[in-house]
Amino acid sequence: MLLLKRMDEYGSLNTASLGTEYLMTNATTHSFIFGAMAELVDNARDAGSKTLEIYTEESEDRSGGPMLCFKDDGCGMSKEEAESVIVFGSSRKTDQEEPIGMYGNGLKSGSMRLGKDMILFTKKDGVLTCLMISRTFYEAESVTQIKVPVPSFHASTKTMVGSDRKKHSVEVSLITKYSPFKTELSLLSQFNSLKGDSGTLVIIYNLSTTPNGELELDFSSDPVDIKASVQLDHENSEDDDVIERRSFRAYASILYKSPRMKIILQKKRVRTRLLAYSLYLPKRILVNYKSFKNQNERQINEAKKQIEVTRRKLTEIQSQISTVTKNSSNVANRNVMMQVRRLQNVEAEHQQQLAERQGIMELRKKQAKKSEQLEFHFGLNANERYHDGIFFYNSDRLIKMYVKEGTLQSKEEITYRGIIAVVSVPKSSLLPTHNKQDFNDHAEYKKLKKCVDQAMQQTGGVPLVRRRSTRLGGRG
Ligand SMILES: Nc1ncnc2c1ncn2[C@@H]1O[C@H](COP(=O)(O)OP(=O)(O)OP(=O)(O)O)[C@@H](O)[C@H]1O
Ligand SMILES: [Mg+2]
Repeated sequence: MLLLKRMDEYGSLNTASLGTEYLMTNATTHSFIFGAMAELVDNARDAGSKTLEIYTEESEDRSGGPMLCFKDDGCGMSKEEAESVIVFGSSRKTDQEEPIGMYGNGLKSGSMRLGKDMILFTKKDGVLTCLMISRTFYEAESVTQIKVPVPSFHASTKTMVGSDRKKHSVEVSLITKYSPFKTELSLLSQFNSLKGDSGTLVIIYNLSTTPNGELELDFSSDPVDIKASVQLDHENSEDDDVIERRSFRAYASILYKSPRMKIILQKKRVRTRLLAYSLYLPKRILVNYKSFKNQNERQINEAKKQIEVTRRKLTEIQSQISTVTKNSSNVANRNVMMQVRRLQNVEAEHQQQLAERQGIMELRKKQAKKSEQLEFHFGLNANERYHDGIFFYNSDRLIKMYVKEGTLQSKEEITYRGIIAVVSVPKSSLLPTHNKQDFNDHAEYKKLKKCVDQAMQQTGGVPLVRRRSTRLGGRG
């Protein structure tokens, strides 16, 4: 009711809309091109997929080069869910357990970083839905607002879903004009590759190129891998040549700490590398988590403030109810009754909100009480032994790799050369930035780095390296 009243009040205000240029601006968040691919991998994983296939295919329309495809057997999307894909900045995943996606942006930023156009085919509960975001269309027809065709078909009859025939036919004709699928038949045939009851196929076409016109992703030098043709700006230039920045197969193999989904890249399965358990001369160190539980404390304080605000509003409403009933000589009067009922409804809403907020605060308090510890895995990097640094996972997803901080930062500190540290930071302490390649709270992150150093000191790195220099050799 409160919401309805607000909508009424604010209905006349201007609503923001998104210009087509925003798609490109948003995509620039992924300076690391594999980070853009990872967004699509995350979505397949969040959809509960058992298998994700990533492959390239020649398109019917060869002028745009190959198409890059991500096909999963996850939960798929209903028509309504597919339509909400283009609501930027709001994720429907908040009720899922530990999803990676949380910002409602990755599919758009990732796909638009990888290519100029994207088409998505999804299947759920007997409905097939297709969605196209095409910058080629916007440019060709000088469209300045993001317009997205989302036609749906019944899986059994291949007839349209809904009753707006005109809209459906405009949508299909736009897709057959601006996608690689030039007829409705060829468009519908794409759903055939989604073999199970549900799943999603994302196809990127008109793939990104370098200023010299070469594809930014190299599909040819290794037929079972996807390589980065160029290394774009990365702060750790010394580590630009690490295999995980050059080979998507290598990056995908360490992307998750506990892999739940099979990834098949260019028809060959990606072998998961559990980095923490593949180190030479490993050492496991536990460091007390207390030092950076600030985030929780902040969240508790925030919850307390919200409870206070709700309490104040509730008291205000209750006093309004008593004023109305006291001042009205005839409480049975219809207008007075309506006014009281309205206020009582608002009161009930606030009571409910108060209960919810108290529940949230209790949860936060429980989280803060848990005597959590961070588990560090240290060891020598047997695969890339000239590279060292910290690998930060956030809950389960790799966020930063080869980070040189504290003791590892100092190039002179030979003691620690070649050492890798792997640590997973829970989301209750730190959240990733939008591109999931960094953390969003600098003060908290600084504390985390101190914690890393503390753990590093505990490893007693010297024996590790002494043995390394005699048994493994190296640049040191
Ligand atoms: N492969 C998929 N299978 C099922 N649903 C998907 C898939 N990809 C995207 N979606 C749906 O589209 C929505 C938007 O995806 P998007 O990646 O933009 O945002 P997100 O995953 O919610 O958050 P984030 O920006 O952190 O990735 C998702 O919330 C999900 O509902
Ligand atoms: Mg996502």
